[in-house]
Amino acid sequence: MDLTLNGKNAIVTGAGSNIGRSIALTLAEEGVNIALFDIDEEAALGVAQDARERGASGVLTVHRTDVTDREQVEASVGRVIEEFEQVHILVNGAGGDQQGPFLDQSPELHEKLVNLNYMGAVHCMRTVLPHMIDHSYGRIVSLGSDAGRMGEYHEAVYSGAKAAVIALSKSLAREAGRHNVTFNVVCPGLTIPDDPEDVASTSMWAGGAIDFWTPERRASASRRYALRRLGTPQDVANVVVFLASDRCNFVTGQTWSVSGGYTMM
Ligand SMILES: NC(=O)c1ccc[n+]([C@@H]2O[C@H](COP(=O)([O-])OP(=O)(O)OC[C@H]3O[C@@H](n4cnc5c(N)ncnc54)[C@H](O)[C@@H]3O)[C@@H](O)[C@H]2O)c1
Repeated sequence: MDLTLNGKNAIVTGAGSNIGRSIALTLAEEGVNIALFDIDEEAALGVAQDARERGASGVLTVHRTDVTDREQVEASVGRVIEEFEQVHILVNGAGGDQQGPFLDQSPELHEKLVNLNYMGAVHCMRTVLPHMIDHSYGRIVSLGSDAGRMGEYHEAVYSGAKAAVIALSKSLAREAGRHNVTFNVVCPGLTIPDDPEDVASTSMWAGGAIDFWTPERRASASRRYALRRLGTPQDVANVVVFLASDRCNFVTGQTWSVSGGYTMM
């Protein structure tokens, strides 16, 4: 199936690591020109280099952008529009969590989690949407989480922020559907990086966090997944890229779990 993505232009936030990296590489394989946004510029440059080595034919640009800073988002999106003229696709991938009991976490951490996981998506959508409306075309796919669908133990504020991304996307799907802009959310389950080399210094998996996931712990966690394995970044990227394609022109306001049957709703 041709996804008809060749020659389209996309912004991918959080493109420097794990799932965002895989999304950028998969879009690049489809011939998409990509602006990679990440707070870790070096990691994003590495992903662009990987994409080129894999034969990407499109233009790849890197923008050091903190999605929690509205002015930085506006400046970077402005540069992308100047260069690409049209942005067809926005993928809100930047996000992250620090697990722990709600009452043990500081209010500052809670604000940080809301800013990163929710306000980051708000800033990016707010900045790109007028441009998409002007062109009567836009495909916005945001990374939620199964935590945002079911409420996850020791992930209270993160779960709330991801639930907010889902509600935001549904509301905007109603508001901007008449302009041919679609909003969908992909909710991964536990998706451990394939390789520690694939994580940014600012990734939630950096600093040895992957090491917690010993083979025994992975096997134990897999038992909660109907398909009896954990997801890979590529599993998630496949669905994101499909939703960003014209094969999903009549799909909006949807929440799609990519978690091997961890949640079913
Ligand atoms: N990996 C999982 O198990 C999992 C599960 C459910 C949902 N998710 C969601 O999927 C998305 C990607 O997850 P991941 O595992 O690839 O995360 P990750 O931590 O490996 O990567 C996140 C990327 O975002 C970048 N980033 C962090 N803060 C930023 C900021 N303020 N501005 C711009 N970029 C910033 C990081 O540098 C990194 O490159 C996130 O939204 C996450 O919440 C992940």
